[in-house]
Amino acid sequence: MNHLLSIEELDRDAIERIVSQAQRFAEVSDREIKKVPALRGRMVLNLFYEASTRTRSSFELAAKRLSADVVNFAASGSSVEKGESLKDTVLTLAAHKPDAIVVRTPWAGAAELVSRWTSAAIVNAGDGKHEHPTQALLDVYTLQRRLGGLDGVSIWIVGDVAHSRVARSNILAFTRMGARVTVAGPPTLIPRGIETLGCEVRYSLADLGQADVVYALRMQRERMSEAWVPSLREYASCFQISARRLSPRQLLMHPGPVNRGVELSGEAVDSPQAVIAEQVEAGVVVRMAVLYELLAGARAFRPVPEPQLA
Ligand code: CP
Repeated sequence: MNHLLSIEELDRDAIERIVSQAQRFAEVSDREIKKVPALRGRMVLNLFYEASTRTRSSFELAAKRLSADVVNFAASGSSVEKGESLKDTVLTLAAHKPDAIVVRTPWAGAAELVSRWTSAAIVNAGDGKHEHPTQALLDVYTLQRRLGGLDGVSIWIVGDVAHSRVARSNILAFTRMGARVTVAGPPTLIPRGIETLGCEVRYSLADLGQADVVYALRMQRERMSEAWVPSLREYASCFQISARRLSPRQLLMHPGPVNRGVELSGEAVDSPQAVIAEQVEAGVVVRMAVLYELLAGARAFRPVPEPQLA
């Protein structure tokens, strides 16, 4: 694997390999000194053009726990504010010779573009509405720890599917791992043809009781350019996951950040069914596994050919 741009490029074996590596790294996170020398001397550049709490902090922690050097770049406060383009920013920072660049942008396809401009391994940390592959991997990891596996598990992804890169990556990852995925929400927030990704579609929560896992999505108001729902109050009355709608046997997931009182009630966020904090915890070990896969695999240990003696 040279880059991680999307779940689309990962088969089940690749997902299982990363999740198994993350399980091995979980042991490191339980130690008093949470560090291994696996990526000593390597450099990871975090290039964030969009707000982030979970992804940015966990990639930084992951790189540091692997003993890599880390450079954090946020577009706000940088020369981007003076008009520097994404390409020129990447070319400028590539002069520092990073081994990996973790990229988050509001533009679909930007991570793939960045991979054409530098020899560093690129990790897509979220590109607009397209994909968020490490979120999907950490969600698979979290469910595997809770349920032992995803084969035959019914997962309902509820809410703003239309604007969600998490939904796209998770539908792909969950179905590849053998789960049965249903997406549910108002028709305006469910993209036409989403079934081609291998999921079912529902426009109400009447059958939510069938789900083993309820995965709520954030209402992405920053990506909405028109009124997609009549009002948030009406949305919440039909699609909010509340303690009343959740059964004690179901697991509740959310990628964060949560709009309390919109897609989730405060009671549901704080319920014993919620595994939201476990998802955040999984983010570090799964991102360690991704960086390790990219930098300690073929790239790092590719043998340097012996000089040919005449
Ligand atoms: N889930 C997620 O990507 O969260 P952040 O935007 O805080 O990184």
